[in-house]
Amino acid sequence: MTKARYPQARIWNRFAAGYAKSPVDDLNAYQVKLDKTAALMTPDMSVLEIGCGTGTTALYHAERISRIDALDFSSEMIGFAQGKAAEGNSPNVAFHISTLADWEIENGPYDMVMAHSILHLVDDLDETLRQIHLRLKPGGWFVSSTVCIRDRSWLLSKLLPLVSATRLIPRVLPLSSKGLQDRIPSAGFNISEVWRPAAGKAVFIIAQAA
Ligand SMILES: C[S@@+](CC[C@H](N)C(=O)[O-])C[C@H]1O[C@@H](n2cnc3c(N)ncnc32)[C@H](O)[C@@H]1O
Repeated sequence: MTKARYPQARIWNRFAAGYAKSPVDDLNAYQVKLDKTAALMTPDMSVLEIGCGTGTTALYHAERISRIDALDFSSEMIGFAQGKAAEGNSPNVAFHISTLADWEIENGPYDMVMAHSILHLVDDLDETLRQIHLRLKPGGWFVSSTVCIRDRSWLLSKLLPLVSATRLIPRVLPLSSKGLQDRIPSAGFNISEVWRPAAGKAVFIIAQAA
């Protein structure tokens, strides 16, 4: 048996088939985020997406831009994304099994980095923000949507890390929207928009590399 490249992606590999089948949680909020992102796009842009899952967002935006590299460390997620890309006609989308840290700097710099439902899952948020900044052109866009469990419930933010130690669910950082909005500028970004469909929902942030 060959060794998996990212053993830590095992949980996500298990989730992939269910994820591919399940509808978007809040379609209206998702569409607002897609529209706000699309409004920043121009046909000459190159985009990087991290933690792309089964590729829905990358494939949605592909026709607006020149090229998109979409990364995920789960080979199963990428398998579904590549299947969807093959069914549609999206020659400018490339899906890769990779973490951000392993993605060669030379592949960029990009005009935009998208990070949807991923920043609360990374091992080191500040290092991830630094890595995103490294891959952007000056003035490039950083568009993210992040679950902030500390805003939902203090108890949840204490319990989830304990449950995730069982490895039945992914590890979730106990972020607050305020904390996230403090850390993004520390990594060299200017925040231009913060949008939340309702209190406690994932926070959507548009920032620009200084
Ligand atoms: C909650 S899903 C979000 C998928 C997609 N962005 C979306 O909004 O539907 C999180 C995704 O991030 C991937 N992921 C988690 N940690 C990662 C890491 N360190 N590097 C790359 N991908 C990661 C998982 O495999 C999973 O596909």
